[in-house]
Amino acid sequence: MNDDRTIIVHRSEIEPQRETSPVQVVTAWASPPDTQVLVMLGDTNADAPAALRIIRHRLEQRRSEGMWIFGVTSARSAEGKSTFATQLALVLSESQRARVLLVEANLTRPSLAKILGFDVPPGKSFSAQLVRKMHGSLDPWCVIALGPALHVLAESQTEQGYPEALHSTHFQNAVGFLGRGYDFLVVDGPSVLGSGDANVVENAVDAMIVVAQAKHSSGNDLREAVRQLGDRKSLGVVLWDADKKG
Ligand SMILES: Nc1ncnc2c1ncn2[C@@H]1O[C@H](COP(=O)(O)OP(=O)(O)OP(=O)(O)O)[C@@H](O)[C@H]1O
Ligand SMILES: [Mg+2]
Repeated sequence: MNDDRTIIVHRSEIEPQRETSPVQVVTAWASPPDTQVLVMLGDTNADAPAALRIIRHRLEQRRSEGMWIFGVTSARSAEGKSTFATQLALVLSESQRARVLLVEANLTRPSLAKILGFDVPPGKSFSAQLVRKMHGSLDPWCVIALGPALHVLAESQTEQGYPEALHSTHFQNAVGFLGRGYDFLVVDGPSVLGSGDANVVENAVDAMIVVAQAKHSSGNDLREAVRQLGDRKSLGVVLWDADKKG
């Protein structure tokens, strides 16, 4: 009988709504990177892997204090931020001891895909995804898996980027949201001097690490950068000079 006291329940209404995954993981093929620069991947006698493991120990201590989202910056450009951020992500995820997401937030000078030797799939660069969120997209975040414990959200080396997206509140929301799915989130940030971009990253993370190259960075610039960041979230300065073998 089907009168007006009968409620017809369609099957789709009684089945539980499938929760859409908030993060889509795609696997990328990565070509062997330069292991002389990425010492965590190379067969090297240099002290860098040991130094990185000591830094990891310090960050694991911070993790137990509730800090796991770390931004990497430097006073000026080309001082080794992306290289260090990548090394840090590698050492934190070493032997699958922690799940790590490496996020590219230096949107005007992207380099993570090149350093790690992979291609960002079309439309999946960080800033393109941010812009779609700004326009109301409910698509899951797409991250690239470079290993079972290391995921990357990078800018494309070939497609147009949207660096201004860094200044939207969606950037901060994205870092907070994605951070909940990982043991560590490493944000490769912009440099400090000459813009407020690094301060945007600072707002989104638990702590900032400043990278400097002992042989190339200026002490005055470093002091000025540390002053601009303030000490609320400054974790410390890493002096980072790797002597290339050969
Ligand atoms: N510790 C290091 N020792 C030797 N060379 C390094 C070191 N770190 C980075 N480099 C080299 O220095 C150059 C700049 O490094 P990187 O791209 O990491 O700097 P960056 O600060 O991220 O630059 P940008 O401001 O463009 O984002 C690269 O050629 C890299 O291979
Ligand atoms: Mg960089």
